[in-house]
Parts: sequence; structure tokens; C-alpha cells
Amino acid sequence: MSTAANDIDNVIPMPSTDAQRQRPRGYMSGFGNEFASEAVAGALPQGQNSPQRAAFGLYAEQLSGTAFTAPRKENRRSWLYRIRPAAMHGTFAPYGQPRFHNDFGNGPVSPDQLRWDPLPLPEAATDFVDGLYTMAGNGSSAGQHGCGIHLYAANRSMEGRYFYSADGELLIVPQQGRLLVATEFGALEVEPLEVAVIPRGVRFRVELLDGPSRGYVCENFGALLRLPDLGPIGANGLANPRDFLTPHASYEDLEGEFELVAKFQGHLWRADIGHSPLDVVAWHGNYAPYKYDLRHFNTIGSISFDHPDPSIFTVLTSPSDTPGTANIDFVIFPPRWLVAQHTFRPPWFHRNIASEFMGLIHGAYDAKADGFAPGGSSLHNCMTGHGPDAQTFEKASAADLSQPHVIVDTMAFMFETRAVIRPAAQAFDAAHRQRDYQACWAGLRKHFDPSKRG
Ligand SMILES: [Fe+2]
Repeated sequence: MSTAANDIDNVIPMPSTDAQRQRPRGYMSGFGNEFASEAVAGALPQGQNSPQRAAFGLYAEQLSGTAFTAPRKENRRSWLYRIRPAAMHGTFAPYGQPRFHNDFGNGPVSPDQLRWDPLPLPEAATDFVDGLYTMAGNGSSAGQHGCGIHLYAANRSMEGRYFYSADGELLIVPQQGRLLVATEFGALEVEPLEVAVIPRGVRFRVELLDGPSRGYVCENFGALLRLPDLGPIGANGLANPRDFLTPHASYEDLEGEFELVAKFQGHLWRADIGHSPLDVVAWHGNYAPYKYDLRHFNTIGSISFDHPDPSIFTVLTSPSDTPGTANIDFVIFPPRWLVAQHTFRPPWFHRNIASEFMGLIHGAYDAKADGFAPGGSSLHNCMTGHGPDAQTFEKASAADLSQPHVIVDTMAFMFETRAVIRPAAQAFDAAHRQRDYQACWAGLRKHFDPSKRG
């Protein structure tokens, strides 16, 4: 049974009797908590981490997500009690999946606004790993700053194969199809409008629960994602800590001819492995996968005039060494009421020292009437002007502000980074990039007339 005091449901975890498939066994609530969970009662040692002989013949292993000596409030690590240590696998060799990498290029980067149609779903059998497709990025895993921005499009579950990234934690944003993400720590079921974060190094496999599936992945090379400070907002609001869910321990006791795929220093590697690495029977610590339902986000905005900067929509942030300047912000544009008076209500025209990669999970984005489909992407880099398209501008300029603008059935998001986001060559040259994107602003008419104040 779980030893965590904050189980959020009434699931009574039972011993994991399904040795073939790891399945969700409920979740524990809270962000970055010290969790403790065991799939077999008594598997967790009490009062120490590394007994001479762990219970049930398990091996004890620590997984460190921060430096051993990181300050206590930053320190993240977990202890895993597993059937075999993570060291047991064959020799790694390069794995040929050329579409997923961190080669963001050293050549010129266009300052153009860029936009893409959704990545086409594959026709050949393609799982999550083979379906990963690099769009853009900055920094490097070696430098431990920046991010890789990827899409995935897959049509079958990972079979006999497990994956981990040593390069960064993975923020997975499903857009189409539910995923079952079976990890060393337990299983997460994630649907569109939810997101999952898999920490650096954690091994997992992905099952597709609804057939062909698609989504976005942000690979964070920098400081671990955390909740933003709330400042004058107060003690509550935006993403509340209790809505983050971490799985109970569950495990697979499987032997066979399997494959372990690793992402290491920007490229993929594979090794044979004779057992499922998802064999952790119990664990405790504060370095673990979690998921979050974006519909729980407490959206805050103006009730007077002018809307705040979109930082008010930050779900998670990876800070940099410069206070207030994020390595990455994960920002959403959820359903909300716009009530501000004598105000242009959609996002304003702007240029930004930060760079903005956007995606759309569901519905329509309120600054773009056409052309930005669910599954699509856009990139507005440092100081590149952007904002509402001509159609949206004309409509909002004439809107009746005595009525609220109720935005429903939508969920757009942004990976915003302090450094320029460099498109991968395959994305810049892709057939599904919209070469005519800038035309959406071409229809903005000249309204200036010095004889009319307006
Ligand atoms: Fe923007």
C-alpha cells in the first residue's frame, strides 16, 4: 500500500499482479512533494535508504535530478527499489531515427514570422519514439540551458521498447489521442488538455489508447520546471499545487528481448535489454513524473482596462541564472472571459526580447481567425513583430464592449524562451510550413487621419 498521506482518490493500491502491463493505480497530489509509494507492502525500507539487504530481494538505487549539494529547496532526488539495477543492459550503439535530434543549426536564422500546418500522421507503423520530429530549439543539453521543441505523430504503441532522455525533462502536450505513459515510477494516463512531465533520465514507454496520436514535446535542458512565484496575486491562483498528480508505484516483472533507447547529447542510442526497466516496486522522493489538467488552471486577467502581459498565464517555468528571466515558460491561453473596458481585447501587437513558439491543442486561438489549426505551430522570434491578424483586428476594434467576450472551447499554448529559437532544417524546409503566413497581416488597412481623433 502507499505510504503517502495525500492520496487523492479512494483507490486502494493492490499488489501489481499484472506482470505484463503496467497500469495506472491512482495518483498522489501535490507539486514536488516528498512522495512515498510501494506496490508491495513492506518494499520501502523504513528509517534509511540503503539497507544491507533490501526487502524482497530488491536493489536500492538513487536517481538524482539535481546536484547532490543543491540547496535543500532546490534538491530533487528519489530512491528506487527495483528488481534489477538500471546499469543492466547491453552496449549502446547509434539508433537511426534522423528526425529527432538537437541539431538546431549554426547558420542564419530568418527573422520572419513562421507557421506550420499540423504534422501529418504517419502511414507506416510508427511508435512514439520513431514519431518524434524536431521543430526547433536553442541552447544545448551539454550546456544545460535552452530547450528542444519537438512534435510527435504516432500510430502504434511502443512494444518491447523503452526510452529515456538524459538531455532534459520532457513536457508532453498531447493534442490528439490519449496516452498511457508507463514509467519506472508508475503509469500516467494523459489526454489532450492534460500535460505530463517526465524527468530527465526516467525510463518509460508510451501506449496509444485512441489509435493515431499527435502532440508536442518540450525538452527542457535547463533548471527543472517549477510553479511560478505569485507575487501580489497571493497564495492561490494560476496552477495550484494540489492539481499536479504523480503515479503510485507499479511495476513490470518481464524478461525477454527488449530494446532501451536513450537520447544522449542530442542523438538517439539503442541497447539490448533482457528485462523491462519498469521494474521499480517501491520508491520515495521528490523527483518523479507528474501530470496536470490544464482545465484546472485558475486564469486571471483584467477587470478594469488593458490586459496584463501573458506571463499571467504561466503554468510552469524553468528559471535561468538571471532573476525574472526564464529559460522556458510554459504558458497557456485557456477559455476565459474578457471584460476589460475601452480596451482592445485580443492580444495586442507586440515585439518581444523573448522568443515564442506556439501550438494549439483545441479550438481556435483568439488572435488568429484562420490558418492556425489544432496541431499547428508558429514561431515568433526575438523582436519579430506579430499580433492579431487583419480580420481579428477589424472585428475587435468594432466590438461592443458592454458585453463580455466569452472565449470557450480553446486551448493554445506557448513555449517562451529567453534565447532565439532556431528552426531545425527539416522544419524550415517542410512542405507543411505556410510560406504565405505573413499575408495574414497584409490586409491591415491604414486608418491614420490627422483630422480625425477617432
Ligand atoms: Fe507574442
